[in-house]
Amino acid sequence: MSHPAPTKTKARIGSLRALWPFIRQHQILFMAWLLALAASSAATLALPVAFKTMIDQGFSSGRGADIDRAFLFGFAVAAALALATAARFFFVSMLGERVVADLRERLYAHLIGLDAEFHERNRSGELVSRLTADVELLRGVVGSSMSVALRSTVTVIGTLIMLFVTSPRLASWALLGIPLSVLPIMFGARRLEKMSRDSQDRVADANALATETLGAVRTVQAHAREPYERGRFDQAVARAVRTAKRRIWVQSLVTAIAIVLIFGAITTVLWMGAHDVIAKRMTGGTLAQFVLYAMIGAGSVAALAEVWNDLQRASGGMSRIGELLEERSKILPPPQPRSLPHALRGELHLDRVSFHYPLRPDLPALEDFSLHVRPGETVALVGPSGAGKSTVFSLLLRFHDPQSGTIAIDDADVREFDPAALRARIALVPQQPTLFAASARDNIRYGRLDASDAEVEAAARAAEAHEFLSDLPKGYDEELGERGARLSGGQQQRIAIARALLKDAPVLLLDEATSALDAQSERAVQHALENLMRGRTTLVIAHRLATVLKADRIVVMDRGRIVAEGTHSQLLAQDGLYAELARLQFLD
Ligand SMILES: Nc1ncnc2c1ncn2[C@@H]1O[C@H](COP(=O)(O)OP(=O)(O)OP(=O)(O)O)[C@@H](O)[C@H]1O
Ligand SMILES: [Mg+2]
Repeated sequence: MSHPAPTKTKARIGSLRALWPFIRQHQILFMAWLLALAASSAATLALPVAFKTMIDQGFSSGRGADIDRAFLFGFAVAAALALATAARFFFVSMLGERVVADLRERLYAHLIGLDAEFHERNRSGELVSRLTADVELLRGVVGSSMSVALRSTVTVIGTLIMLFVTSPRLASWALLGIPLSVLPIMFGARRLEKMSRDSQDRVADANALATETLGAVRTVQAHAREPYERGRFDQAVARAVRTAKRRIWVQSLVTAIAIVLIFGAITTVLWMGAHDVIAKRMTGGTLAQFVLYAMIGAGSVAALAEVWNDLQRASGGMSRIGELLEERSKILPPPQPRSLPHALRGELHLDRVSFHYPLRPDLPALEDFSLHVRPGETVALVGPSGAGKSTVFSLLLRFHDPQSGTIAIDDADVREFDPAALRARIALVPQQPTLFAASARDNIRYGRLDASDAEVEAAARAAEAHEFLSDLPKGYDEELGERGARLSGGQQQRIAIARALLKDAPVLLLDEATSALDAQSERAVQHALENLMRGRTTLVIAHRLATVLKADRIVVMDRGRIVAEGTHSQLLAQDGLYAELARLQFLD
């Protein structure tokens, strides 16, 4: 977890205001917390008075009843303090949990709905760290820092007043003494915090190294680089220890200085007070009361200083989250989306489409691209790598909108529909099948969540996946591992095909759906795909002759343009790019 430079993170405490709407949602908790806070502050401030009563009336008066009453009062104050503190902790911690849960849900819901451009710009790892690390910082703010800040402010003000009420003379001295003892400690603590961040960074460096090399352990071993990597890791760990050593040393020093300063201040006050007591300017109880107020006040000043740092860090987190929440999708449903006809014919019309990816403004991915696909027709897209074949699919699915030209389905511009409704009618088998770390059954069912087990199995059979799935130890319930890593590439593709089959959509987009299959399974899957294509409009990106030959029409693309169109034999006869590709690629 790395955070941007402190200068960027700090000095924006105001951004924490964005938390208010989330807090306001839990008004009852919030009010209960304020009440408990008021009660516990009052009890804290009453405690020294209780002590004074115990000492002055309890000890000095000599009457048993007074002693009992004084100590009962003291105990009652302590009990009230205990209750109020517990309530305060409960309410504010719950408030923190609720706010963090809301924030996390809201952020996730927002991120998962943002368009392809946003997700191409941002790394998912970074987004996850916003969802975890930054949100976690805010849990600290709402669940504790906010509470400590408010409580300490109240306490500092309260104790200041009470110090002067108790003894104006000593209070004036204490006003000088408290900052003198607290400031050096605060300064040391700040140094320490920076050092401990350094220390954490060094540990993170070592961890990152381990993550990278353990993740690529085969590459490391294949190059026999274990001793080299051990050395690198040892060095990283040693660096972390050196940094930690510096921190520990400073921390010991700060602790010693803090104790000297705190006790020095207390003894000074006690010493001055003792003279006052002897001179009968104040009672022993009043002196005790004064010292207690001074200690509580100093503690609160220190707490405020500490919390200030936390708040600054958290406000950095909040402003990063705020930036994400302000991101807007470019692909939005129109105000009054047209409803897609139930019986979609699946006619596709791309008319003079020009498009470049937002991150590559210099490189046109599609230029003046026009294509008409009749309902039920199968068109193969063929062309060299980078020709723009997958881009055509992205535009049909409205992951991006073209800069010029129109894309229509059944004669209606795709921009008139809600993108989600449009995508529900298009089944895609992507170039890289993406499976989830779930069971095979759930992975197939991702195509249609309400499909029955029988339907899932039928789809798996049609995609030639039933056999290998049944052979797994737990059959369809076998967990497939992260990104389906426990399956071979070809098996993953067949799961993806089964998923698309289950979706049963009128338009089918196959992006080299069978590229990772051997010839035999390809023939089998080909058969399944033929069944699937029947009666549907299909665009298929193909590098294999078998797939291409099944198409009604072949469209040859190069650098975002259509360079030729026709049947296999027509195109071969032209002896152009297609003939060349055929010679190089369709070896089977
Ligand atoms: N998300 C993206 N951001 C920026 N540029 C992209 C993006 N995706 C693709 N491109 C670029 O757009 C061009 C067309 O890419 P596309 O993926 O459509 O090629 P393709 O024909 O499917 O190639 P392949 O056969 O290798 O899959 C390429 O030059 C590619 O570098
Ligand atoms: Mg592609």
